Amino acid sequence: MTYTLDQFCADAHAAMAKDSGSAGRDEIRVHLEKLLINQDFVAEHLSAQGSGKSLLYHDKEFDFYVMAHGTDAGNRKGKPHDHGASWAVYGQATGLTNMTVWNRTDDGSQDGHAELSEDNTFPLMPGKAALFDTGVIHSTAHPEPARWVRVTGTDLDTIERYAYDPERQVMKRMTPA
Ligand SMILES: [Fe+2]
Repeated sequence: MTYTLDQFCADAHAAMAKDSGSAGRDEIRVHLEKLLINQDFVAEHLSAQGSGKSLLYHDKEFDFYVMAHGTDAGNRKGKPHDHGASWAVYGQATGLTNMTVWNRTDDGSQDGHAELSEDNTFPLMPGKAALFDTGVIHSTAHPEPARWVRVTGTDLDTIERYAYDPERQVMKRMTPA
């Protein structure tokens, strides 16, 4: 049976109701992988979407967001960033995302200064989803046009979070204070 966006949103809500911590977030990741193989969903909500993002669902009780994302550019590379006090599940629909996880190696005592070392890089392929839990710093790269779904614990545009420049060893707040 085809697994629909409505079913995914209901299952994600139920997962949060059961456990809003890491276990519930990982359950959302598992459910998202079922949605990503629904080609009707991909055609309707992702293929039609160009570069940029659009809202698929906002859960009013638990405040998580389900967003459709896309890029039609080739070789798009993002900066390392955190998700503040929130978390994110990334699920690939088409193309691929090269995910890099970074470790912060300084003690955070110097304002605006951050030292990062690369931990690992893996390709997130269509039908696969990955959880980046609270505190994880990652970067994304899209060597080709791609579509993906991102589920976040809250609206990331409204919370304190940072982007990092590993070469210059600086960090900068992404959202207004
Ligand atoms: Fe992210």
